[in-house]
Amino acid sequence: MARAKLSGARLRVLAAFTIMVFLGLSQSLTAQFRTARDPGVRGGPEGAGGMLADLTADQQKMFTDGLADFSEEEGVEDGVGPRFNFVGCAGCHAQPAIGGTSPAANPLFRVTDPGDLGFVNNTIPSFITKSGPIREARFQYKADGSRDGGVHALFVISGHPDATGCNIRQEEFETQVRNRNIIFRIPSPVFGVGLIESITDSTILANLGSNSAIKSAFGISGRPNRNGNDGRIARFGWKAQNASLLVFSAEAYNVEMGITSEGFPIERDETPTCQYAGVPNDVTPKVSQISNIENFANFQRFLAPPTPSFFGASPASIIRGRQQFVNIGCTLCHTPQLPTNPKATVAALADKTAHLFSDLALHQMGPGLADDILQGAARGDEFRTAPLWGLGKRIFFLHDGRTNDLDTAIKAHQSAGNLRFGPSEANRVIDSYTRLSEFDQQDLMNFLRSL
Ligand code: HEC
Ligand code: HEC
Repeated sequence: MARAKLSGARLRVLAAFTIMVFLGLSQSLTAQFRTARDPGVRGGPEGAGGMLADLTADQQKMFTDGLADFSEEEGVEDGVGPRFNFVGCAGCHAQPAIGGTSPAANPLFRVTDPGDLGFVNNTIPSFITKSGPIREARFQYKADGSRDGGVHALFVISGHPDATGCNIRQEEFETQVRNRNIIFRIPSPVFGVGLIESITDSTILANLGSNSAIKSAFGISGRPNRNGNDGRIARFGWKAQNASLLVFSAEAYNVEMGITSEGFPIERDETPTCQYAGVPNDVTPKVSQISNIENFANFQRFLAPPTPSFFGASPASIIRGRQQFVNIGCTLCHTPQLPTNPKATVAALADKTAHLFSDLALHQMGPGLADDILQGAARGDEFRTAPLWGLGKRIFFLHDGRTNDLDTAIKAHQSAGNLRFGPSEANRVIDSYTRLSEFDQQDLMNFLRSL
Protein backbone atom coordinates (compact mmCIF):
# COMPACT_ATOMS: atom_id res chain seq x y z
CA MET A 1 0.00 0.00 0.00
CA ALA A 2 2.62 2.46 1.20
CA ARG A 3 4.84 1.68 -1.82
CA ALA A 4 2.04 2.41 -4.24
CA LYS A 5 1.35 5.77 -2.69
CA LEU A 6 3.36 8.69 -4.00
CA SER A 7 4.69 11.01 -1.33
CA GLY A 8 3.49 14.64 -1.41
CA ALA A 9 6.96 15.82 -2.46
CA ARG A 10 7.14 13.36 -5.37
CA LEU A 11 3.67 14.43 -6.51
CA ARG A 12 4.74 18.03 -6.62
CA VAL A 13 7.81 17.17 -8.71
CA LEU A 14 5.68 15.15 -11.12
CA ALA A 15 3.11 17.98 -11.42
CA ALA A 16 5.84 20.53 -12.07
CA PHE A 17 7.38 18.24 -14.69
CA THR A 18 4.02 17.75 -16.42
CA ILE A 19 3.42 21.49 -16.48
CA MET A 20 6.91 22.05 -17.93
CA VAL A 21 6.35 19.51 -20.69
CA PHE A 22 2.95 21.02 -21.44
CA LEU A 23 4.35 24.56 -21.53
CA GLY A 24 7.24 23.51 -23.74
CA LEU A 25 4.89 21.75 -26.11
CA SER A 26 2.44 24.62 -26.33
CA GLN A 27 5.33 27.01 -26.86
CA SER A 28 6.64 25.04 -29.79
CA LEU A 29 3.08 24.84 -31.13
CA THR A 30 2.63 28.61 -31.02
CA ALA A 31 6.07 29.06 -32.57
CA GLN A 32 4.92 26.85 -35.40
CA PHE A 33 1.65 28.70 -35.94
CA ARG A 34 2.68 32.22 -35.07
CA THR A 35 3.88 33.59 -38.40
CA ALA A 36 4.35 37.16 -39.49
CA ARG A 37 1.14 38.58 -40.85
CA ASP A 38 0.22 41.38 -43.21
CA PRO A 39 -1.62 43.79 -40.90
CA GLY A 40 -4.05 44.51 -43.78
CA VAL A 41 -5.34 47.77 -45.21
CA ARG A 42 -4.22 50.60 -42.92
CA GLY A 43 -6.97 52.45 -41.04
CA GLY A 44 -7.07 56.19 -40.47
CA PRO A 45 -7.10 59.00 -43.01
CA GLU A 46 -6.88 58.26 -46.75
CA GLY A 47 -3.61 60.16 -47.10
CA ALA A 48 -4.18 60.56 -50.84
CA GLY A 49 -6.38 62.30 -53.36
CA GLY A 50 -5.40 65.93 -52.79
CA MET A 51 -3.46 68.24 -55.07
CA LEU A 52 0.28 68.99 -54.94
CA ALA A 53 1.43 71.83 -52.72
CA ASP A 54 2.67 74.99 -54.46
CA LEU A 55 0.34 74.90 -57.47
CA THR A 56 -0.56 78.28 -58.95
CA ALA A 57 -4.21 79.37 -58.83
CA ASP A 58 -4.55 78.40 -62.51
CA GLN A 59 -3.04 74.97 -61.91
CA GLN A 60 -5.39 74.43 -58.96
CA LYS A 61 -8.31 75.15 -61.30
CA MET A 62 -6.84 72.74 -63.85
CA PHE A 63 -6.71 70.11 -61.09
CA THR A 64 -10.34 70.60 -60.01
CA ASP A 65 -11.64 70.73 -63.59
CA GLY A 66 -9.61 67.61 -64.33
CA LEU A 67 -10.95 65.88 -61.22
CA ALA A 68 -14.51 66.60 -62.39
CA ASP A 69 -13.87 64.99 -65.78
CA PHE A 70 -11.93 62.07 -64.29
CA SER A 71 -14.91 61.44 -61.97
CA GLU A 72 -17.60 61.73 -64.62
CA GLU A 73 -19.47 58.64 -65.83
CA GLU A 74 -20.27 58.81 -69.53
CA GLY A 75 -22.96 57.23 -71.66
CA VAL A 76 -23.52 55.84 -75.15
CA GLU A 77 -24.41 59.33 -76.42
CA ASP A 78 -20.93 60.51 -75.30
CA GLY A 79 -19.31 57.74 -77.30
CA VAL A 80 -18.93 54.95 -74.73
CA GLY A 81 -18.40 51.65 -76.59
CA PRO A 82 -19.22 49.83 -78.78
CA ARG A 83 -16.98 47.75 -76.48
CA PHE A 84 -15.82 48.99 -73.08
CA ASN A 85 -14.67 47.97 -69.58
CA PHE A 86 -16.27 50.75 -67.56
CA VAL A 87 -17.86 54.19 -68.02
CA GLY A 88 -15.51 56.49 -66.07
CA CYS A 89 -11.90 56.71 -64.89
CA ALA A 90 -12.73 57.12 -61.19
CA GLY A 91 -14.77 53.88 -61.14
CA CYS A 92 -11.58 51.86 -61.56
CA HIS A 93 -9.18 54.33 -59.94
CA ALA A 94 -11.04 54.60 -56.62
CA GLN A 95 -9.22 53.17 -53.59
CA PRO A 96 -8.56 54.84 -51.15
CA ALA A 97 -9.49 58.04 -53.02
CA ILE A 98 -10.13 59.11 -56.61
CA GLY A 99 -6.94 58.35 -58.55
CA GLY A 100 -6.26 55.10 -56.71
CA THR A 101 -6.96 51.47 -57.57
CA SER A 102 -9.60 48.77 -57.30
CA PRO A 103 -12.05 49.30 -54.38
CA ALA A 104 -13.39 46.61 -52.01
CA ALA A 105 -16.73 46.25 -53.83
CA ASN A 106 -16.17 45.54 -57.52
CA PRO A 107 -17.88 48.31 -59.55
CA LEU A 108 -17.99 46.15 -62.70
CA PHE A 109 -21.18 44.57 -61.30
CA ARG A 110 -22.87 47.93 -61.84
CA VAL A 111 -22.44 47.54 -65.59
CA THR A 112 -25.03 44.79 -66.06
CA ASP A 113 -27.41 45.96 -63.32
CA PRO A 114 -30.66 47.04 -65.06
CA GLY A 115 -31.34 49.52 -62.25
CA ASP A 116 -27.88 51.06 -62.58
CA LEU A 117 -25.82 51.32 -65.78
CA GLY A 118 -28.15 48.90 -67.56
CA PHE A 119 -25.94 47.20 -70.14
CA VAL A 120 -28.11 44.12 -69.87
CA ASN A 121 -26.80 42.17 -72.88
CA ASN A 122 -23.68 41.23 -70.92
CA THR A 123 -22.79 38.55 -68.42
CA ILE A 124 -20.09 39.02 -65.82
CA PRO A 125 -17.07 36.83 -66.74
CA SER A 126 -15.98 34.21 -64.19
CA PHE A 127 -12.76 36.06 -63.31
CA ILE A 128 -14.70 39.12 -62.12
CA THR A 129 -16.03 38.58 -58.60
CA LYS A 130 -17.92 40.88 -56.22
CA SER A 131 -15.11 41.26 -53.71
CA GLY A 132 -12.29 40.66 -56.20
CA PRO A 133 -10.32 43.23 -58.16
CA ILE A 134 -11.37 45.05 -61.33
CA ARG A 135 -9.59 43.16 -64.08
CA GLU A 136 -8.84 44.06 -67.64
CA ALA A 137 -8.28 41.07 -69.96
CA ARG A 138 -5.71 40.40 -72.65
CA PHE A 139 -5.50 37.30 -74.83
CA GLN A 140 -1.98 36.03 -75.47
CA TYR A 141 -2.56 34.34 -78.83
CA LYS A 142 -5.11 34.44 -81.65
CA ALA A 143 -6.90 31.33 -82.89
CA ASP A 144 -4.32 30.94 -85.70
CA GLY A 145 -1.48 30.79 -83.15
CA SER A 146 -0.06 34.24 -83.90
CA ARG A 147 0.46 36.77 -81.10
CA ASP A 148 -2.51 38.79 -79.90
CA GLY A 149 -1.59 40.62 -76.66
CA GLY A 150 -4.29 43.29 -76.94
CA VAL A 151 -6.95 44.29 -74.41
CA HIS A 152 -10.31 42.60 -75.03
CA ALA A 153 -13.03 44.83 -73.62
CA LEU A 154 -15.39 42.95 -71.32
CA PHE A 155 -18.71 44.54 -72.26
CA VAL A 156 -20.83 45.73 -75.21
CA ILE A 157 -23.40 48.53 -75.44
CA SER A 158 -25.97 46.55 -77.44
CA GLY A 159 -29.22 45.99 -75.53
CA HIS A 160 -28.95 49.35 -73.77
CA PRO A 161 -31.96 51.65 -74.43
CA ASP A 162 -29.59 54.27 -75.95
CA ALA A 163 -28.09 51.74 -78.39
CA THR A 164 -31.03 50.59 -80.46
CA GLY A 165 -29.91 48.96 -83.70
CA CYS A 166 -26.58 47.80 -82.30
CA ASN A 167 -26.36 44.01 -82.28
CA ILE A 168 -22.76 43.15 -81.51
CA ARG A 169 -22.18 40.37 -78.97
CA GLN A 170 -19.96 40.25 -75.92
CA GLU A 171 -16.73 38.31 -76.49
CA GLU A 172 -16.59 34.74 -75.26
CA PHE A 173 -14.19 34.82 -72.32
CA GLU A 174 -14.79 31.40 -70.76
CA THR A 175 -13.24 29.55 -73.72
CA GLN A 176 -10.09 31.65 -73.28
CA VAL A 177 -10.11 30.89 -69.54
CA ARG A 178 -10.36 27.14 -70.30
CA ASN A 179 -7.59 27.42 -72.92
CA ARG A 180 -5.41 29.42 -70.52
CA ASN A 181 -5.07 32.10 -73.18
CA ILE A 182 -6.05 35.04 -71.01
CA ILE A 183 -4.21 37.28 -68.53
CA PHE A 184 -5.35 40.07 -66.28
CA ARG A 185 -4.25 43.53 -65.23
CA ILE A 186 -5.62 45.51 -62.31
CA PRO A 187 -5.67 49.33 -62.23
CA SER A 188 -2.44 50.91 -61.02
CA PRO A 189 -2.75 54.07 -58.88
CA VAL A 190 -2.05 57.50 -60.35
CA PHE A 191 -1.14 59.39 -57.15
CA GLY A 192 2.08 61.33 -57.66
CA VAL A 193 2.39 60.41 -61.35
CA GLY A 194 3.23 64.03 -62.27
CA LEU A 195 6.46 63.57 -60.32
CA ILE A 196 7.14 60.28 -62.15
CA GLU A 197 6.58 62.02 -65.48
CA SER A 198 9.14 64.67 -64.44
CA ILE A 199 12.02 62.26 -63.74
CA THR A 200 14.63 62.53 -66.48
CA ASP A 201 15.83 59.57 -68.53
CA SER A 202 19.39 60.30 -67.33
CA THR A 203 18.27 59.98 -63.69
CA ILE A 204 16.62 56.61 -64.37
CA LEU A 205 19.73 55.35 -66.17
CA ALA A 206 22.14 56.64 -63.50
CA ASN A 207 20.07 54.96 -60.79
CA LEU A 208 19.99 51.67 -62.73
CA GLY A 209 23.77 51.82 -63.10
CA SER A 210 24.37 52.50 -59.39
CA ASN A 211 25.43 49.76 -56.91
CA SER A 212 26.26 47.61 -59.91
CA ALA A 213 28.58 45.27 -57.96
CA ILE A 214 25.92 44.49 -55.34
CA LYS A 215 23.20 44.18 -57.97
CA SER A 216 25.18 41.70 -60.04
CA ALA A 217 26.06 39.71 -56.92
CA PHE A 218 22.31 39.42 -56.32
CA GLY A 219 21.61 38.58 -59.98
CA ILE A 220 19.69 41.82 -60.50
CA SER A 221 20.00 43.77 -63.73
CA GLY A 222 16.89 45.56 -65.02
CA ARG A 223 16.52 47.71 -68.10
CA PRO A 224 14.26 50.52 -69.21
CA ASN A 225 11.30 50.08 -71.55
CA ARG A 226 11.39 52.58 -74.38
CA ASN A 227 8.82 54.47 -76.36
CA GLY A 228 8.64 53.16 -79.93
CA ASN A 229 8.64 56.49 -81.76
CA ASP A 230 11.25 58.65 -80.03
CA GLY A 231 13.19 56.06 -78.03
CA ARG A 232 12.68 57.86 -74.69
CA ILE A 233 12.21 55.85 -71.47
CA ALA A 234 8.59 54.83 -70.92
CA ARG A 235 7.44 54.46 -67.31
CA PHE A 236 3.66 54.16 -66.82
CA GLY A 237 1.71 50.91 -66.64
CA TRP A 238 2.66 47.46 -65.31
CA LYS A 239 5.25 47.02 -68.08
CA ALA A 240 6.36 50.68 -68.16
CA GLN A 241 4.79 50.80 -71.60
CA ASN A 242 3.94 54.51 -71.76
CA ALA A 243 5.93 57.73 -71.39
CA SER A 244 3.29 60.42 -71.02
CA LEU A 245 0.15 61.01 -68.97
CA LEU A 246 -1.59 62.64 -71.92
CA VAL A 247 -0.98 59.60 -74.10
CA PHE A 248 -1.96 57.18 -71.32
CA SER A 249 -5.16 59.17 -70.73
CA ALA A 250 -6.14 59.15 -74.40
CA GLU A 251 -5.36 55.45 -74.61
CA ALA A 252 -7.36 54.63 -71.44
CA TYR A 253 -10.28 56.69 -72.74
CA ASN A 254 -10.25 54.57 -75.89
CA VAL A 255 -9.36 51.15 -74.50
CA GLU A 256 -11.26 51.19 -71.16
CA MET A 257 -14.26 53.28 -72.14
CA GLY A 258 -14.39 53.06 -75.94
CA ILE A 259 -14.23 56.86 -76.29
CA THR A 260 -12.05 58.15 -79.13
CA SER A 261 -10.23 61.48 -78.93
CA GLU A 262 -7.65 63.57 -80.77
CA GLY A 263 -5.01 61.28 -79.26
CA PHE A 264 -6.62 58.01 -80.35
CA PRO A 265 -9.04 59.08 -83.12
CA ILE A 266 -10.06 55.69 -84.51
CA GLU A 267 -12.79 53.50 -83.01
CA ARG A 268 -11.58 50.04 -81.93
CA ASP A 269 -14.90 48.57 -83.14
CA GLU A 270 -16.20 50.38 -86.20
CA THR A 271 -19.50 48.47 -86.55
CA PRO A 272 -21.53 51.24 -88.26
CA THR A 273 -24.80 50.45 -86.47
CA CYS A 274 -23.13 50.93 -83.07
CA GLN A 275 -21.83 54.53 -83.41
CA TYR A 276 -23.94 57.11 -81.59
CA ALA A 277 -21.56 60.08 -81.45
CA GLY A 278 -19.28 61.82 -83.96
CA VAL A 279 -15.78 60.38 -84.34
CA PRO A 280 -13.52 61.13 -82.57
CA ASN A 281 -16.07 61.10 -79.77
CA ASP A 282 -14.32 63.84 -77.80
CA VAL A 283 -12.50 66.82 -79.37
CA THR A 284 -11.23 70.24 -78.26
CA PRO A 285 -14.54 72.12 -78.26
CA LYS A 286 -13.25 75.63 -79.00
CA VAL A 287 -10.06 77.63 -79.14
CA SER A 288 -10.33 78.70 -75.49
CA GLN A 289 -11.35 75.33 -74.05
CA ILE A 290 -9.45 72.08 -73.54
CA SER A 291 -10.51 68.50 -74.25
CA ASN A 292 -11.26 65.74 -71.75
CA ILE A 293 -7.97 63.93 -72.30
CA GLU A 294 -6.06 67.08 -71.31
CA ASN A 295 -8.28 67.46 -68.26
CA PHE A 296 -7.54 63.86 -67.22
CA ALA A 297 -3.81 64.43 -67.67
CA ASN A 298 -3.89 67.71 -65.69
CA PHE A 299 -5.72 66.11 -62.77
CA GLN A 300 -3.24 63.24 -62.59
CA ARG A 301 -0.18 65.43 -63.12
CA PHE A 302 -1.15 67.69 -60.21
CA LEU A 303 -2.31 64.86 -57.93
CA ALA A 304 -0.14 64.66 -54.80
CA PRO A 305 1.74 61.47 -53.91
CA PRO A 306 0.36 59.37 -51.01
CA THR A 307 1.35 60.45 -47.47
CA PRO A 308 3.02 57.70 -45.39
CA SER A 309 1.57 57.15 -41.91
CA PHE A 310 2.36 55.40 -38.62
CA PHE A 311 -1.40 54.94 -38.02
CA GLY A 312 -2.22 51.89 -35.91
CA ALA A 313 1.32 50.51 -35.80
CA SER A 314 4.44 50.83 -33.71
CA PRO A 315 6.78 53.49 -35.13
CA ALA A 316 9.77 51.55 -33.80
CA SER A 317 8.70 48.46 -35.75
CA ILE A 318 8.18 50.53 -38.93
CA ILE A 319 11.65 52.06 -38.61
CA ARG A 320 13.21 48.61 -38.13
CA GLY A 321 11.18 47.32 -41.09
CA ARG A 322 12.49 50.07 -43.30
CA GLN A 323 16.02 48.97 -42.39
CA GLN A 324 15.19 45.34 -43.25
CA PHE A 325 13.85 46.51 -46.61
CA VAL A 326 17.30 48.00 -47.30
CA ASN A 327 19.33 45.21 -45.68
CA ILE A 328 17.88 42.31 -47.64
CA GLY A 329 18.04 44.13 -50.98
CA CYS A 330 14.43 45.12 -51.79
CA THR A 331 15.81 48.59 -52.56
CA LEU A 332 17.97 47.18 -55.37
CA CYS A 333 14.76 47.34 -57.46
CA HIS A 334 12.39 49.37 -55.27
CA THR A 335 14.57 52.55 -55.24
CA PRO A 336 13.22 54.58 -52.28
CA GLN A 337 13.45 57.95 -53.99
CA LEU A 338 14.34 59.66 -57.25
CA PRO A 339 14.72 63.40 -57.91
CA THR A 340 12.61 65.18 -60.52
CA ASN A 341 13.98 67.44 -63.22
CA PRO A 342 15.11 70.81 -61.77
CA LYS A 343 14.13 72.31 -65.12
CA ALA A 344 10.52 71.04 -65.07
CA THR A 345 8.35 73.93 -66.26
CA VAL A 346 5.73 73.40 -63.53
CA ALA A 347 7.37 74.69 -60.32
CA ALA A 348 5.42 72.22 -58.13
CA LEU A 349 7.08 69.37 -60.07
CA ALA A 350 10.60 70.80 -60.40
CA ASP A 351 13.50 69.70 -58.23
CA LYS A 352 11.29 67.55 -55.98
CA THR A 353 11.89 64.14 -54.46
CA ALA A 354 9.57 61.35 -55.54
CA HIS A 355 9.42 58.71 -52.75
CA LEU A 356 8.13 56.15 -55.19
CA PHE A 357 10.05 52.96 -54.20
CA SER A 358 10.70 52.02 -57.82
CA ASP A 359 13.55 52.25 -60.33
CA LEU A 360 10.89 52.48 -63.10
CA ALA A 361 12.79 49.73 -64.91
CA LEU A 362 11.77 46.32 -66.19
CA HIS A 363 12.96 43.18 -64.40
CA GLN A 364 12.78 39.55 -65.40
CA MET A 365 10.44 38.01 -62.82
CA GLY A 366 10.39 34.35 -63.93
CA PRO A 367 7.58 32.02 -65.01
CA GLY A 368 5.59 32.52 -61.79
CA LEU A 369 4.62 36.08 -62.68
CA ALA A 370 5.16 35.94 -66.48
CA ASP A 371 2.04 36.89 -68.48
CA ASP A 372 3.54 36.19 -71.90
CA ILE A 373 2.52 39.64 -73.18
CA LEU A 374 5.02 41.75 -75.13
CA GLN A 375 4.77 45.54 -74.73
CA GLY A 376 7.40 47.71 -76.36
CA ALA A 377 10.72 46.22 -75.28
CA ALA A 378 9.10 44.32 -72.40
CA ARG A 379 9.22 40.56 -72.76
CA GLY A 380 6.61 38.12 -71.46
CA ASP A 381 8.23 37.80 -68.03
CA GLU A 382 9.31 41.41 -67.53
CA PHE A 383 7.51 43.92 -65.33
CA ARG A 384 8.18 47.42 -64.09
CA THR A 385 9.25 47.46 -60.44
CA ALA A 386 5.86 48.38 -59.00
CA PRO A 387 6.05 51.72 -57.14
CA LEU A 388 5.22 50.96 -53.50
CA TRP A 389 4.05 54.39 -52.34
CA GLY A 390 0.44 54.17 -51.19
CA LEU A 391 0.79 50.42 -50.47
CA GLY A 392 -0.71 50.83 -46.96
CA LYS A 393 -4.15 51.53 -48.41
CA ARG A 394 -4.06 49.01 -51.26
CA ILE A 395 -6.38 45.98 -51.29
CA PHE A 396 -5.02 43.94 -54.23
CA PHE A 397 -1.44 43.25 -55.22
CA LEU A 398 0.60 42.30 -58.30
CA HIS A 399 -0.31 43.00 -61.93
CA ASP A 400 -3.23 40.56 -61.98
CA GLY A 401 -4.40 41.23 -58.42
CA ARG A 402 -3.84 37.58 -57.49
CA THR A 403 -3.50 38.31 -53.78
CA ASN A 404 -4.43 40.77 -51.08
CA ASP A 405 -1.70 39.53 -48.77
CA LEU A 406 1.72 41.20 -48.68
CA ASP A 407 3.61 38.06 -47.64
CA THR A 408 2.14 36.17 -50.63
CA ALA A 409 2.95 39.11 -52.94
CA ILE A 410 6.58 39.11 -51.76
CA LYS A 411 6.99 35.33 -52.06
CA ALA A 412 5.46 35.45 -55.57
CA HIS A 413 8.61 37.34 -56.66
CA GLN A 414 10.46 34.03 -56.40
CA SER A 415 10.43 31.66 -59.33
CA ALA A 416 12.89 29.21 -60.88
CA GLY A 417 13.32 29.36 -64.63
CA ASN A 418 11.71 26.94 -67.06
CA LEU A 419 12.08 26.22 -70.77
CA ARG A 420 10.37 29.48 -71.76
CA PHE A 421 11.41 32.00 -69.12
CA GLY A 422 14.59 32.53 -67.09
CA PRO A 423 14.64 32.63 -63.27
CA SER A 424 13.39 35.71 -61.41
CA GLU A 425 15.97 38.42 -60.74
CA ALA A 426 14.45 38.72 -57.25
CA ASN A 427 15.24 35.11 -56.18
CA ARG A 428 18.19 35.87 -53.90
CA VAL A 429 16.48 38.80 -52.23
CA ILE A 430 13.42 36.67 -51.53
CA ASP A 431 15.69 33.93 -50.12
CA SER A 432 16.87 36.52 -47.61
CA TYR A 433 13.26 37.49 -46.87
CA THR A 434 12.24 33.91 -46.12
CA ARG A 435 15.29 33.49 -43.86
CA LEU A 436 14.35 36.52 -41.76
CA SER A 437 12.90 35.80 -38.32
CA GLU A 438 9.16 36.24 -38.16
CA PHE A 439 9.71 39.35 -36.04
CA ASP A 440 11.83 40.90 -38.77
CA GLN A 441 9.28 39.91 -41.41
CA GLN A 442 6.56 41.51 -39.29
CA ASP A 443 8.56 44.74 -39.08
CA LEU A 444 9.02 44.70 -42.84
CA MET A 445 5.28 44.29 -43.49
CA ASN A 446 4.44 46.96 -40.92
CA PHE A 447 6.81 49.26 -42.79
CA LEU A 448 5.15 48.46 -46.15
CA ARG A 449 1.72 49.21 -44.66
CA SER A 450 3.00 52.61 -43.51
CA LEU A 451 3.63 53.72 -47.10
C1 HEC B 1 -11.94 49.36 -66.42
C2 HEC B 1 -11.07 49.96 -65.47
C3 HEC B 1 -10.30 51.20 -65.87
C4 HEC B 1 -10.81 52.40 -66.29
C5 HEC B 1 -12.23 52.78 -66.59
C6 HEC B 1 -9.66 53.28 -66.40
N1 HEC B 1 -8.51 52.62 -66.05
FE1 HEC B 1 -6.66 53.45 -65.90
N2 HEC B 1 -5.88 51.61 -65.53
C7 HEC B 1 -6.60 50.43 -65.54
C8 HEC B 1 -5.69 49.32 -65.60
C9 HEC B 1 -6.09 47.85 -65.64
C10 HEC B 1 -4.39 49.85 -65.62
C11 HEC B 1 -3.07 49.08 -65.76
C12 HEC B 1 -2.89 48.90 -67.27
C13 HEC B 1 -1.61 48.21 -67.66
O1 HEC B 1 -0.55 48.62 -67.20
O2 HEC B 1 -1.69 47.28 -68.45
C14 HEC B 1 -4.55 51.30 -65.57
C15 HEC B 1 -3.48 52.20 -65.54
C16 HEC B 1 -3.61 53.57 -65.70
C17 HEC B 1 -2.50 54.51 -65.69
C18 HEC B 1 -1.04 54.16 -65.46
C19 HEC B 1 -0.59 54.50 -64.08
C20 HEC B 1 0.79 53.97 -63.78
O3 HEC B 1 1.65 54.69 -63.32
O4 HEC B 1 1.04 52.80 -64.02
C21 HEC B 1 -3.03 55.74 -65.97
C22 HEC B 1 -2.25 57.02 -66.11
C23 HEC B 1 -4.45 55.56 -66.12
N3 HEC B 1 -4.78 54.24 -65.92
C24 HEC B 1 -5.34 56.58 -66.42
C25 HEC B 1 -6.71 56.39 -66.67
C26 HEC B 1 -7.60 57.42 -67.14
C27 HEC B 1 -7.22 58.84 -67.45
C28 HEC B 1 -8.84 56.86 -67.27
C29 HEC B 1 -10.12 57.46 -67.82
C30 HEC B 1 -10.04 57.99 -69.15
C31 HEC B 1 -8.70 55.47 -66.85
N4 HEC B 1 -7.40 55.23 -66.50
C32 HEC B 1 -9.75 54.59 -66.83
C33 HEC B 1 -7.98 50.32 -65.46
C34 HEC B 1 -8.86 51.34 -65.76
C1 HEC C 1 14.29 42.15 -59.09
C2 HEC C 1 13.55 43.33 -58.70
C3 HEC C 1 12.71 43.27 -57.45
C4 HEC C 1 13.12 42.97 -56.16
C5 HEC C 1 14.50 42.58 -55.68
C6 HEC C 1 11.95 43.14 -55.34
N1 HEC C 1 10.88 43.50 -56.09
FE1 HEC C 1 9.00 43.84 -55.42
N2 HEC C 1 8.34 44.01 -57.34
C7 HEC C 1 9.12 43.94 -58.47
C8 HEC C 1 8.29 43.90 -59.64
C9 HEC C 1 8.78 43.82 -61.08
C10 HEC C 1 6.95 43.95 -59.19
C11 HEC C 1 5.69 43.85 -60.05
C12 HEC C 1 5.44 42.38 -60.32
C13 HEC C 1 4.09 42.04 -60.91
O1 HEC C 1 3.12 42.75 -60.67
O2 HEC C 1 3.98 41.01 -61.60
C14 HEC C 1 7.03 44.03 -57.73
C15 HEC C 1 5.91 44.10 -56.89
C16 HEC C 1 5.97 44.20 -55.52
C17 HEC C 1 4.83 44.33 -54.66
C18 HEC C 1 3.37 44.46 -55.13
C19 HEC C 1 3.09 45.90 -55.47
C20 HEC C 1 1.81 46.13 -56.22
O3 HEC C 1 1.64 47.25 -56.73
O4 HEC C 1 0.97 45.24 -56.34
C21 HEC C 1 5.29 44.37 -53.37
C22 HEC C 1 4.47 44.51 -52.11
C23 HEC C 1 6.73 44.23 -53.43
N3 HEC C 1 7.11 44.15 -54.75
C24 HEC C 1 7.57 44.19 -52.32
C25 HEC C 1 8.89 43.81 -52.39
C26 HEC C 1 9.71 43.53 -51.22
C27 HEC C 1 9.26 43.65 -49.78
C28 HEC C 1 10.94 43.16 -51.68
C29 HEC C 1 12.11 42.68 -50.88
C30 HEC C 1 11.87 41.48 -50.09
C31 HEC C 1 10.89 43.21 -53.13
N4 HEC C 1 9.64 43.61 -53.51
C32 HEC C 1 11.95 42.92 -53.96
C33 HEC C 1 10.51 43.89 -58.48
C34 HEC C 1 11.30 43.57 -57.40
